[in-house]
Amino acid sequence: KSILILNGPNLNLLGIREPTQYGNQTLADVEDMCRAAGERLGVSVDCLQSNHEGELIDAIHKAREGVLDGSVLGIVFNAGAYTHTSVALHDAIKGTDVPVIEVHISNVHARESFRHHSYISPAAAGIIVGLGVDGYVLGMEALVRRATQA
Ligand code: DQA
Repeated sequence: KSILILNGPNLNLLGIREPTQYGNQTLADVEDMCRAAGERLGVSVDCLQSNHEGELIDAIHKAREGVLDGSVLGIVFNAGAYTHTSVALHDAIKGTDVPVIEVHISNVHARESFRHHSYISPAAAGIIVGLGVDGYVLGMEALVRRATQA
């Protein structure tokens, strides 16, 4: 069984970008942490980051095939700023029924009002906000629990 760690725009800049908001760990550090968590949880981990909305949509469509054949548990998804703009990502999650845990490193509700609305949340299986990069691992744990309780 595998989990997809999917990161959207500007998350390739983790560690460089606004460290007070997003911390000092790079995306590679975060992905390594997720792979280590995967070993502990007994799942394999695929990682993808894209700055392009369509590529994120394609990744969700591809994950659907894995969900249907039983090889994929779901996606831990930080959609970055597309969270606040993308009806297309909302539709991709709704249209595929792929279990998605929405993650935000920062507490978006304590920030600018344009970050308070998410198009992803109504389509997500759950949401983890403001717990730093630990949110990715917590999201993985949630997907594993969800699958074992199903
Ligand atoms: C973010 C929050 C978004 O508002 C922002 O656009 C990001 C990162 C977070 O992880 O806190 O790119 O999703």
